[in-house]
Amino acid sequence: MSVISGKKILLGVTAGIAAYKTAFLVRLFIKAGAQVKVVMTPAAKEFVTPLTLSTLSKNEVISSFTKEEDHSNQWNNHVELGLWADLMLIAPATANTLSKMAKGHSDNFLLATYLSSKCPVYFAPAMDLDMHRHPSTRENFDTLTSFGNIMIPATSGELASGLSGEGRMAEPDDILKFIEDHLAKSLPLRNKKVLITAGPTYEAIDPVRFIGNHSSGKMGFELAAAARALGAEVILISGPTHLQNPNEEIKLIRVQSAVDMFEAATKFFPEVDIAIASAAVSDYRPKLSATQKIKKSAETMMLELVKNPDILANLGETKKHQILVGFALETENEEENAAGKLQRKNLDFIVLNSLNDSGAGFKSETNKIKILFKDGKTKSFQLKSKTEVARDILNEIILLSNE
Ligand code: CTP
Repeated sequence: MSVISGKKILLGVTAGIAAYKTAFLVRLFIKAGAQVKVVMTPAAKEFVTPLTLSTLSKNEVISSFTKEEDHSNQWNNHVELGLWADLMLIAPATANTLSKMAKGHSDNFLLATYLSSKCPVYFAPAMDLDMHRHPSTRENFDTLTSFGNIMIPATSGELASGLSGEGRMAEPDDILKFIEDHLAKSLPLRNKKVLITAGPTYEAIDPVRFIGNHSSGKMGFELAAAARALGAEVILISGPTHLQNPNEEIKLIRVQSAVDMFEAATKFFPEVDIAIASAAVSDYRPKLSATQKIKKSAETMMLELVKNPDILANLGETKKHQILVGFALETENEEENAAGKLQRKNLDFIVLNSLNDSGAGFKSETNKIKILFKDGKTKSFQLKSKTEVARDILNEIILLSNE
């Protein structure tokens, strides 16, 4: 999955012949899973039509401060658009627009949006070779990069003028690759390996029956997806769930019982930097698991149970450099019980979710958590989607790993 998947990209098209290539660029971004909105300078419409770009981006293309078509004088909000974007790309970026960007002009909608944006801005210059090597253009490149903008350098080749030299806009494939590589380098969990346990465990009574619990595995799968999106290499060890692997780059190991999960987790733990135990592991398993289906006979039946290994406590005992995080689902004496587990299992922090909070816990799509740290500090969070909760938990891990 591309690192730009889910990202909101604002593409600014200016008036250069390479503007026709932005149709391919928009398609590549959409195929990689991004959302795309396009703004154009008025003159850029001579080179590629707004209709083409709005059809490909599935969004309205804006090129002026007011809505032109319906003459309603309704204002197009450049500030809102600037804030919407996760990243902005000006491609092609003409010498004229780059000069105006360097000076802070805002005499068209694209420039006003650029000035209002708070996200990283990439620009892909495109111009004739003499314009490209002119000292004022060079100075504008330097000024713009000194502001934190990122230049996607022009390449050499045949130019629209018929001359040959430096000034061709980078090809759409190369622009995509440049942005992907640049984003990947800045991901906070890049070069980190994360182990996550998820879901319930099933403890076999006989070939058709088991002891299990209601865990959906959703929290663990969300954590795995979020960790991968932040650049980590992820190993997800999951008990039986109906969930699909959220990202084929995640190594998903499906297990049945607590003993299976224990074996997989302890095998991978030494090689990871971070481990998060979100699985609802069955504390006990039947002492004997019948090889044939147990037939109904007496009025009562005794099932002898033996204790399962505590996976997280074992990781805590053997932990060296790893950041170790556990979960606690409590119904009473919540903080006291969670703090006890934090200490006993040698964790860096524990995520407490209470069954007393409506919307939190096993089967719901949302969760309300409180984090207890080993130094005694605590942090409470609002009721949020499990996707957002996963981000909150990983943000705390990132803060710890930067300490
Ligand atoms: N855990 C584990 N292996 C087990 C039991 C629990 O890895 N055999 C992990 C869970 O994934 C969770 C944390 O330990 O991160 C706490 O789990 P929980 O079931 O709340 O606590 P227990 O230690 O089982 O204690 P109790 O059931 O008595 O509340």
